[in-house]
Amino acid sequence: MTRPFVVLKFGGTSVAAPEGWRTIAAATRAHLDAGRRPVVVCSALAGVSDALDGLLPAAVGGRHAPVLDDLRRRHAELAAALGVEVDLSDVFEPLERLALGVSLTGEFTHRMRARAMATGELAATRLGAAHLQALGLPITWIDARDCLTTVEAGDTPAHALAARCDDHADAALAARLAAHDAILTQGFVARDPQGRTALLGRGGSDTSAALFAARLGAARCEIWTDVPGVYTTNPRDVPQARLLRRLDYDEAQELATAGAKVLHPRCLAPVRRHRIPLEVRCTVHPDLPGTVVGALEDGPAEVKAIAARRNVTLVSMDTLGMWQQVGFLAQVFGAFARHGVSVDLVSTSESNVTASFDPAAGAVDDATVAALLADLNQVCRARALRDCAAISLVGRQIRATLHRLGPALALFEDRRIHLVSQAASDLNLTFVVDAAEADRLVGRLHALLFDGREADDRLGPTWRETFAAPQAAATPAAPWWVAERARLLAVEASPAYVYHGPTVDAAAARLLALRHVDRVFYAIKANDHPALLRRLVAAGLGLECVSPGELDHVFAACPALTPDRVLFTPNFAPRAEYAAALARGVHVTVDNLHPLVRWPEVFAGHDIFLRLDPGQGRGHHAKVRTAGRRSKFGVAPEELGAVADAAAAAGARVVGLHAHAGSGIREAGAWAETAVFLADAATRFPDVRVLDLGGGLGVREKPGQAALDLAAVDDALGPVRRAHPSLAFWMEPGRYLVAEAGVLLARVQQIKAKGDKTYIGVDAGMHTLLRPALYGAWHGIVNLSRLDAPLAVTADVVGPICETGDVLGHARRLPRTEEGDRLLVATAGAYGRTMASGYNRRGAPAEVVLD
Ligand code: LLP
Repeated sequence: MTRPFVVLKFGGTSVAAPEGWRTIAAATRAHLDAGRRPVVVCSALAGVSDALDGLLPAAVGGRHAPVLDDLRRRHAELAAALGVEVDLSDVFEPLERLALGVSLTGEFTHRMRARAMATGELAATRLGAAHLQALGLPITWIDARDCLTTVEAGDTPAHALAARCDDHADAALAARLAAHDAILTQGFVARDPQGRTALLGRGGSDTSAALFAARLGAARCEIWTDVPGVYTTNPRDVPQARLLRRLDYDEAQELATAGAKVLHPRCLAPVRRHRIPLEVRCTVHPDLPGTVVGALEDGPAEVKAIAARRNVTLVSMDTLGMWQQVGFLAQVFGAFARHGVSVDLVSTSESNVTASFDPAAGAVDDATVAALLADLNQVCRARALRDCAAISLVGRQIRATLHRLGPALALFEDRRIHLVSQAASDLNLTFVVDAAEADRLVGRLHALLFDGREADDRLGPTWRETFAAPQAAATPAAPWWVAERARLLAVEASPAYVYHGPTVDAAAARLLALRHVDRVFYAIKANDHPALLRRLVAAGLGLECVSPGELDHVFAACPALTPDRVLFTPNFAPRAEYAAALARGVHVTVDNLHPLVRWPEVFAGHDIFLRLDPGQGRGHHAKVRTAGRRSKFGVAPEELGAVADAAAAAGARVVGLHAHAGSGIREAGAWAETAVFLADAATRFPDVRVLDLGGGLGVREKPGQAALDLAAVDDALGPVRRAHPSLAFWMEPGRYLVAEAGVLLARVQQIKAKGDKTYIGVDAGMHTLLRPALYGAWHGIVNLSRLDAPLAVTADVVGPICETGDVLGHARRLPRTEEGDRLLVATAGAYGRTMASGYNRRGAPAEVVLD
């Protein structure tokens, strides 16, 4: 079987420095080792195409010599840095003669311009080929002009500078190139049918790569660039932008056209036609997985990305009562065509037509716009609006997502959206706004659509997480398990949860130090290990339980525990459970009307707490937000009167009010808001002495995430407490006390590469730690056996359970990992072991406490 071709394209910044060539060499070698035939397509060194574009205009004025000197110097410097000696006189001498000719005649043609600009790619690849050959790679330099022919010969600028090639399979070319192990060639350049040099348009190296891939029937096409993939929006503007791991050809096409800079709009059609996967990779971070563009199955309605094109001009045309006039649009667009202005977006109504164009892309100058307006004003009232921006939402079934955009568009209550255009394909919805509003709109839309979305197969980490991670990890103190590595590696049982007592103590001390919280109860559902319960009780915390099982457990585990230090906060519990808990003397919270109305005798003569719904749920995932109209918890605000009456009728005294908005909250003001809400409700209950503000305190889970600012939580509570001196504030956190103190140790069982992914299989899975499968929760994963080894692989860490969702971490960066290695899953102390199951009968994880 012949070796399949794979095409790799490297842009100007990649080829301009020796580091880029290291990646080029490594990627080429990796393909050769894997039995493929790499075809490496390179651009000119960054900045060289611009310099060459300026050469002939400079020559007209006789000022070409410094430009040429500069070009020679740049290439000589790179040659020296790469350690090669290459005679480029056959490249630069014709260029010099060309410039000299132009300086004498004072004019040049588009063809001459094309020849001059092609020099950049020819020179760069000559240096690169010499370098790769010196490294021992079997690479052959080939002139791309002998491989790609444009479809038409002509003398317009487009024919010379932005020509098209057809992308049919080319068996003769494939046979010719198959004579070489590896090939280095140029992007951007081709020949017309008469054999003259033609260019494929600025940014055309991507197109060259796609054309080579199509004509050679390549197995894949890799576009290596300076960003690690396609992001949900430009990450340099919005660092919260998320990597798009997978995109459909249509979506990528739409994004490229809408202004995303990573891919050239023309490079997608050839690979799409031949169903060749296209990967976007990063030259400076070759280990990152990037974005794969391919044929995706139909997915849900969703916005995949937000693209912005600034520098857009609008022409608004009022039709002056020409309603129902036949041919009006033809007249209008005829005028655009006559002036060579290509229209991007249009919206029409009976009285107005608005069209947009990009003056820079179409080289439309002010004089052309003025002439166009003069023509249009013959048939309507036309005016131009400059400095607009077109913001496009790109994805699938965009119309179905409209209802979610409301809050972001509130920005336009007092400012205008000039044009809204929606593609019939439903892949794109575009707003044209003043350029000055663009950044804010993109930021808001992005926050609305992507913040808080969990990483999955399609949506990767944020730009900030990828690039800020090393610094962010360096700032907070290293986690306890780094210092405890030896003791952790000595734990034989696997999988095993290991808890670090001192870390629990430290979290408890921080909570007990809150000035405006009178009592802290630990919600044991997070982790009910008896040794931890005893630690927390010894530190002075109470415990919060939600079932008779938990009540039995805490009293058995902590002999010193008195009922006054225990809360019972069940939900939809049977009648008998309330009766038993009241008999035990613990604080009982009632969270529905039903028990008080139907079983009044159970509560007669008792002090109770009422759980109220504060109206707004909060937390790290929809499944853990426990308030609001759609949650099953708490007494709704409109039932407050009824519940007060029912309690009074039952003969129960309401001594406390409780609310718990959700879990994993990191907004410091949340508990003060709950306190205000409860204090307000307390005016209806004269006996209330306690406001239980619930738990939910979040911890830092992902790198780059800020920890919850506990001092700010405390400060926010201050004014509320001062306003209600007779009320005590209680809290009942679970996660905050134990999450960071616990890790899950798993042992690597098998490793496999399948498709384009690597899987590391461990003995822990969704039966051990359910959070990733249930909430898409992110837990840091490290190879504890090789903690200091360089990160070298990107893998999904999976368990042995018979479900596709049995993934502990998607696309994780790990060192080279071997069977038997110990992986550590971080921040697993809360809701880890307590949510483990017997699924697949794989047994329960061990638990170990380190003091
Ligand atoms: N109080 C009540 C009434 C609760 O329902 C909960 C948790 C807490 C306190 C403690 O919340 P914490 O401080 O731990 O956030 N399994 C999910 C969390 C579910 C929390 C359920 N209720 C997770 O793994 O993220």
